Amino acid sequence: MDYSIKDINLYKEGKKKVKWAFQHMKVLSLLRETHSKEKIFKGTKIGCCLHITSETANLVITLKKCGADVFLCASNPLSTQDDVAAYLVKEEKISVFGKKGESKEEYYENIKNVMKRNLHFVVDDGGDLISSLHRNEKFAENIIGATEETTTGVIRLRNLAKKKLLKFPVIAVNDAKTKYLFDNRYGTGQSTVDGFLRATNILLAGKTVVICGYGWCGRGIARRFSGMGAKVIITEVNPLRALEATLDGFYVMPISEAAKLGDIFITSTGNTSVITVKEIKKMKDGVILGNAGHFNVEIDIKGIEEITKNKVKIRDGLEEYTLKDGKKIYILGEGRLLNLACAEGHPSSVMDMSFSNQFLSLKYLKENPSLPPNVYNVPSEIDMKIAELKLKSMGIKIDRLSKIQKKYISSWELGT
Ligand SMILES: NC(=O)c1ccc[n+]([C@@H]2O[C@H](COP(=O)([O-])OP(=O)(O)OC[C@H]3O[C@@H](n4cnc5c(N)ncnc54)[C@H](O)[C@@H]3O)[C@@H](O)[C@H]2O)c1
Repeated sequence: MDYSIKDINLYKEGKKKVKWAFQHMKVLSLLRETHSKEKIFKGTKIGCCLHITSETANLVITLKKCGADVFLCASNPLSTQDDVAAYLVKEEKISVFGKKGESKEEYYENIKNVMKRNLHFVVDDGGDLISSLHRNEKFAENIIGATEETTTGVIRLRNLAKKKLLKFPVIAVNDAKTKYLFDNRYGTGQSTVDGFLRATNILLAGKTVVICGYGWCGRGIARRFSGMGAKVIITEVNPLRALEATLDGFYVMPISEAAKLGDIFITSTGNTSVITVKEIKKMKDGVILGNAGHFNVEIDIKGIEEITKNKVKIRDGLEEYTLKDGKKIYILGEGRLLNLACAEGHPSSVMDMSFSNQFLSLKYLKENPSLPPNVYNVPSEIDMKIAELKLKSMGIKIDRLSKIQKKYISSWELGT
């Protein structure tokens, strides 16, 4: 068994974190219990490119307990929890490749280490493993199918499919309702505030926070910052989302105007060059900037470096840039997704649903091995089953339709 991690001696701390997370992953726990006896993934090799967190650990352990050989690399150079990686290698005997703070070269080397295993299934977050497999097709020959965890990855894969270049079927786990409505909204909402506070420890009440992008993540982030007493401004390019933000009670304006007003800026668009030097020049002295979108392209860090005369690390996850004109700005987690770079990512209870979608989507691919290459939605029965199991695990009961109600909502004849 090979691996490449920071320090295997960290495993004891990692073990405690993984067990604690599992206590809050009741649906995945149930799936593990039900499917590990039959070893449903026996004889398969699964390559995962995911944030190496305690929740991911519970997914890969579940896959292994169900019979798979699992290989794990990081989906971001800053999101790896080194103690969790150590535990997976030391006690769970899973090949892990990743360490917090790895270079771009190490990041792709680690992806290669997973990619070259003659994989049958791939679990990706952001699309870097799948796109690497498309650049090295000889490694993709045995792949039956893949799953993708996040919005940005799904967009990349749909673009690949549109160009008829996709080599195998991919399930868009992100697009399951039990994923984006909860993980992107409540998970990113809470963990972005968490990452922001761990890195800065400043008072949010009374601050003006500009959130770029009012998608599923942006909605959650805006709601949580607002709940902490901040005044929230939204920037958008989509008129519907801008209208929704307005009626949700937020100020909406272009970034050129918001730049002058904000104390704190958080991007969550999945797009590039949202905050560039042009906007930075309009900002007040002392502003704090962070990104919650998947890639570190939303804030133009390279451009900022070019107008910077001095850079100092202030605290973990917080750097002070003194610009050539004397103004100071502060950047969280090097412009990488700050909820993972400055904190621990989403709470386990929300990842429970995302990773149960991953597990059941892989099972679906295993049971349907001849799907043509395309991007597929998570079957709605899986989505509904996860919602039901999650409610049950929370001890919440709901009503059932009566016969008369079923008849009523399937008829057209009945009116007033
Ligand atoms: N940090 C995390 O843990 C985490 C979790 C889930 C998703 N993500 C990532 O966050 C990003 C957003 O995901 P989402 O699910 O909210 O996507 P989404 O598509 O629901 O929302 C993105 C929004 O950004 C808007 N937008 C695009 N370009 C813009 C611009 N230049 N200025 C202002 N708004 C702009 C779009 O109109 C859209 O409303 C993606 O990169 C996704 O992969 C991160």
